[in-house]
Amino acid sequence: MSVLLFQQPLRLRVLVLAVTVLTAALLVFYSVPLPPSIDVGRVIFWIVVTLVASGQPVYLPRGVNVSVNSAPLIAALFDAALPRPFAPLWIAAIGTLQLRDIRGELPLYGTLYNRATFVLSVLAGWYAIEWTGVGASGADPIELLPQLFAAGLAYSLVNQILASAAASVRTGIEFQRVWTASFRQVWTGLIALVPMGWLMAEVAGKVGLWAGGLFMVPLLLARYSFSKYAETRDLFFGSVSALSQAIDAKDGFTRGHADRVSRIAGAVAREMGLSEPIIEQIELAALLHDIGKIGVEDRILMKPTRLEPDENELMRRHPIYGASILEPSSALRPLAPIVLAHHENYDGTGYPNGLKGDEIPVGARIILVSDAYEAMTSDRIYRRAIGHERAIEQLNKYKGIQFDPKVVRALDTLLKKRGAAAFEVSDLPVIEYETLAELRQRLAQKPTLSDAHAG
Ligand SMILES: [Fe+2]
Repeated sequence: MSVLLFQQPLRLRVLVLAVTVLTAALLVFYSVPLPPSIDVGRVIFWIVVTLVASGQPVYLPRGVNVSVNSAPLIAALFDAALPRPFAPLWIAAIGTLQLRDIRGELPLYGTLYNRATFVLSVLAGWYAIEWTGVGASGADPIELLPQLFAAGLAYSLVNQILASAAASVRTGIEFQRVWTASFRQVWTGLIALVPMGWLMAEVAGKVGLWAGGLFMVPLLLARYSFSKYAETRDLFFGSVSALSQAIDAKDGFTRGHADRVSRIAGAVAREMGLSEPIIEQIELAALLHDIGKIGVEDRILMKPTRLEPDENELMRRHPIYGASILEPSSALRPLAPIVLAHHENYDGTGYPNGLKGDEIPVGARIILVSDAYEAMTSDRIYRRAIGHERAIEQLNKYKGIQFDPKVVRALDTLLKKRGAAAFEVSDLPVIEYETLAELRQRLAQKPTLSDAHAG
């Protein structure tokens, strides 16, 4: 793969150039003149340990990857037998190389930026050690603990800010979103690697380098647990997405209806300033909001004409069915109250409980507006979209009655900022077969073969 930096967006070019030039300057500054005595074998040992720990990174959502190399890098920072910060900086620059860098699977600027990230993180850790001002080995625990904490925090913050900034600029996803989605769950794990790094340095110093190397076992176990976290998350989101497409198919929507509702709801929630964990919950609930329709007969679900009162009564049960489908699963249970309330109207005239205003969970209020907007702006089986302008007009007309005015305002602002086509781009693959919805549409328009013979 050959991607040149000058073909990249300006923000990425500025970020990469600024960070790599700064790092190169700092490396030269700390390497000239060379420290008087360097234990080359010791430096190579830490480089090798770091290389092993850097291998096979765990890929987290939104383009960030994590490895357990912070432990040996912190260990090098605390190893008093090394010339510091000279040796730890070079261990960070060389030891964090991965196979994909050597094989050229990453563009060169990516490889340089990643090295720079580690060098700057290690330097931040070193300054934290210097400023907290205690010698590492044999220090009083009362003095050592804050020093360890400061070094770990400085290292982790610089590392995560730089990694998230690059991923955000590259993928176009807001910085805060990358930061939260990627690091919220592994933050504790990364902080736990810092004391292990210090212990590695202590053992390597007092028992011998070979004993420090034994720490590779718990380190690789930690890596394994990160990879299990990433796999579980993928599996969960993949299953929810598959389920939501199954609901779309059964409901007669074109594929991707729930996906679009989910993206609109997520963006509106973010515009309203809700926290990232809540936004994620709302996005998931939006994907599954109509899951209760599984419990509604096809005869009613597919009926092209107006529903009779008794049929309507059955249809109006789908939020209750939905909540009870989600309830038994511990991962999906938090979505149940949102799904249960997704047809509650702002003025209390909705169903199933007739909740009013702020009694309705905010996620449900957002989904109601997003679902209505999506339905009005995309074609359905028996009618065509009414268009963006008229959709907004309708939402404004019914705000305070059916819709929460705050939510409608947020969607309005968002669409003014991003334009009407903002939610068309999806991660779902393009469909190359005739969907159930399209088939039904075709059959409804053309008489079938048996109909033709019947006459
Ligand atoms: Fe619904």
